Order: sequence, then structure tokens, then C-alpha cells
Amino acid sequence: KDKRKKTWVCNQCGATTGQWFGICKACRAMNTMVEFKEALEENNGKVSGFKVSEAAVRSWFKEAGASVPSSLADVSKGMNQSEWRITLPGLVGMEISRVLGGGVVPGSLILVGGDPGVGKSTLLLQISALLSEGFCGSNSGRILYVSGEESIDQIGNRADRLNITTADIFLYSSTDIEDIMDNIQVLSPQALIVDSIQTVYLRGVSGSAGSIMQVKECTSALLRFAKQTNIPVFLIGHVTKTGDIAGPRMLEHIVDTVLYMEGESSTSYRLLRSVKNRFGSTDELGVFEMSNTGLQAVLNPSEMFLSEAVSGSDISVGLAIAVIVDGSRTFVLEIQALCLTGSTTTKQCNGIDSARSSLIIAVLMKQAGLKLQDNAIFLNVVSGFKMIETAGDLAIAAAICSSFLEFPIPNDVAFIGEIGLAGELRTVPRLEKRISTISKLGYKKCVIPKSSEKQIASLNLDITILGCRNLNEVIDNIF
Ligand code: TYD
Ligand code: MG
Repeated sequence: KDKRKKTWVCNQCGATTGQWFGICKACRAMNTMVEFKEALEENNGKVSGFKVSEAAVRSWFKEAGASVPSSLADVSKGMNQSEWRITLPGLVGMEISRVLGGGVVPGSLILVGGDPGVGKSTLLLQISALLSEGFCGSNSGRILYVSGEESIDQIGNRADRLNITTADIFLYSSTDIEDIMDNIQVLSPQALIVDSIQTVYLRGVSGSAGSIMQVKECTSALLRFAKQTNIPVFLIGHVTKTGDIAGPRMLEHIVDTVLYMEGESSTSYRLLRSVKNRFGSTDELGVFEMSNTGLQAVLNPSEMFLSEAVSGSDISVGLAIAVIVDGSRTFVLEIQALCLTGSTTTKQCNGIDSARSSLIIAVLMKQAGLKLQDNAIFLNVVSGFKMIETAGDLAIAAAICSSFLEFPIPNDVAFIGEIGLAGELRTVPRLEKRISTISKLGYKKCVIPKSSEKQIASLNLDITILGCRNLNEVIDNIF
């Protein structure tokens, strides 16, 4: 008897319920609920639609007893952290390993999500090369790269551009999971890459490739496969435009690790962010640049968002420097503001949360007495970075003041601090880290909340710290 937990999933919105309904309770669509059986952890050979024979799977076990419960004492014995992971060589490999929490964990299922065209296939092809190199020396480092998106020739061309020549990467164009599994048996690879989860399907599961059912079942099948064989499996998932339907979001709870690749198409910078990691922390961020030979590691990301204007000319109106911490990295950002009198638009933000900017503008009007009411205010974070940290508040306020008062801020001044509703400056986390970064970059003065001054008193840096209690003090001192 099938003992797996049964749930009903809406084929349209992905809502899950314990029983069948004719109309989805979440999205109100008719007749969209389909049965879904959760994956069974114990491998008892009754996995739906997954026809690789028990014996074949068994042959993958290095040790036959791997699925028997083991005592914690036995498990941790002799397995120190570094042995547990495959570290990727080179600078790009170092960056990726860091995001993964120190390397690739054997037997883990890693989902790499991102917008179409952001560079996921490029990243995974580079990871394939690094993995095979990383395995070198031990036994053969064969990697199987399965693509349902592109032809073998297309991937071959990409490998040429990336200067990847290793004979250990095997390309296979297929969308049938069972067919893929059969071929894996022959090759015995050390890692499997599936590009992408939206193109593969399992026979016997309803729906076409890319539907919610297929995507979930295929991911579950690959998870079982990763656990049984103890090889790492990478999955590519496109973030779909229409609200993530059948996209990576709904797979996050199934897989071990979720990485998202981000980047504006107008810039060449790509960020790799870990949003879930069963084997490490999630506040790591990898920074890359897409070049004509693939992704390159950016070793000094602090200054990558600075425009020529700042390094070239001495001063400019409506420009202030913010210092933002994301993951374990510090970024120096340029905030631009433009105040325009007598315009019909009221406000436009690019890279800054609109509600946050409204708050800052309101505080500037009420607490600092700036007559901004007749102005259209445009705000922009240079280079398409999305600023979510409130530590950037003060820089936004300073940029607005600078534009409104038509008073330039010297280009060696940075602003750090959160703004409260009374116009007071509030302290922000990791201040030492921010200040030492800008000091290294040559900034001479930094405005911070007065309350944080003693926190950094012990830092011996070549930078003038200006502690202010509120916005009025900042305006008095700078403008
Ligand atoms: P791709 O990896 O195909 O994106 P995804 O798999 O996420 O859809 O790469 C997308 C873009 O990257 C493509 O428009 C071209 C660019 N690119 C480079 O700039 N340099 C390179 O070396 C490669 C391989 C791609
Ligand atoms: Mg692709």
C-alpha cells in the first residue's frame, strides 16, 4: 500500500490543500486541483514514475548501509568540515565556494534560479569545468551536463568562448528524466547538471514539462537521486515573469540549497546570492562580472558601483555616497537626487524603495524645514543596485539637500545612518566594517549618528568622523 502523504495542488497557482476541491480556494480557478504525492524518504522501490531499477540504484551506493539510521556519534566521526565539501579551484571557484558555505556538498541538490539570460547556463558550465578540475587527482572527474534548452553544438560553442577544453564534461541533450538516469548509469559522473528544471519531465506524471506537477515531481526525483548516489546535482530554474508560477520559488522547500543569480541586463555585474542553505549560512554574496570569456570574480567589489564622475571631477550637485553591507560584502554606492520646481510629476525612484524615500522626504520637510512641497524629486542609485538597507537613509537625504540647495557635497565625504521620524540619526549595524572600507578607498570624512561615535573610537583610521544627532546638525555641518 502506498503510504505516502497525499496532497492536492492547484495546477494554476500552486496552492496546496489536504483535500480535493472543485474550485481552488486560493485563486478560484475551476477544476485545477491535482493529486500530489510527497516524496518518500525511505527508498522502498515504490517511487512513482521513476523506473530506474532498485538494483541499479543500489549499485551507486558506496556503502550498502547508507540508508539505515546511524548514530550521531558514528556520523560525525572522522568527517571534518573540509573533507565534506568539494572546493572549487581558482578565483571564480573560490567565490562560488564561499557562497555555497565552503564548497559543494556531495549528495546535495542545488537550485540556481534567475531571470532568463542572466547567465545561469554560463555559470553552470564554468562550475562543471571547475568541478572536474577539483576532482582531478582523485578518481575521474566526469561531469554530466544535461540540457533541454540548447543543442550540444550551442553548449559546445559556449564552452569554446569560455576556453573550456576538458574531455571530462559530457554533454547530453535530453528532457526525459528516466532516459537521463539510464545514461548516468553508464557514465558514472561525479556531478550532474540539469539545465533547466522547466524542460524535463517524468513519464507517468500528468502535465507537460514546466507545469507545476512535473517541476515538483522531477525535483523530488532528482533529490532522491542525489541522496542515493551521493553526487551533487545542480538544477537551473528560470524565474518566470508571471509571479513565479512553476518557478524556483515553489521548489525552495524541496532542495538543499537555493542560489539566485541577479544582475541588470544593462550592466555586466552579476551577484550570486544564497537564499537557502542546509549546509551553511545564507548571508554570503558572490560578485562576478560577465566578460566575453564568461564570468570573472570581482575581487574588490566595494568600488564597482562608483561612476566615473566621482573619481574624475571634484564635486557635483545632488550626489551623495552611501555605504551598504550586503552579505559579507561592503558596497559604496552613489545616490543621485534631482529636485525640480514646478513639475507635474511628484516623485520617481530608481533602486530605492519608494515608501522609504517618501518617509525621508517627509522628515526633511517637517523636521529640517526644507520646502520640498512644490518639487518633483527624482532619486537614483547609480549602476542599478537595489538599496534595501536603511543605513542608506542619510545619503538619500544628503543627496536631496544637495540638489535642493544647489550645494555640492565634496566627493570625499560618505554618509552612514538611518533616519527616524523625528529627524534623528539612528545607529546601524557593522559600522566598523563600513568605515574601514571607505577609509581604504580614500574617503576623508564620514557623517555618522552621534550615538555610534564611541563604537568606532578604537578604530585607528585616517578618516574624519563627524557625529550628528539629527538632520539639522548634518545640514549645518555640511551645507
Ligand atoms: P546564459 O548563460 O545563456 O543565460 P541563462 O542560462 O541564464 O539564460 O548567458 C546569457 C548572456 O550572457 C548572453 O546574453 C550572452 C552573455 N555571455 C557573455 O557576455 N559572455 C560569455 O562568455 C557568455 C558565455 C555569455
Ligand atoms: Mg540557459
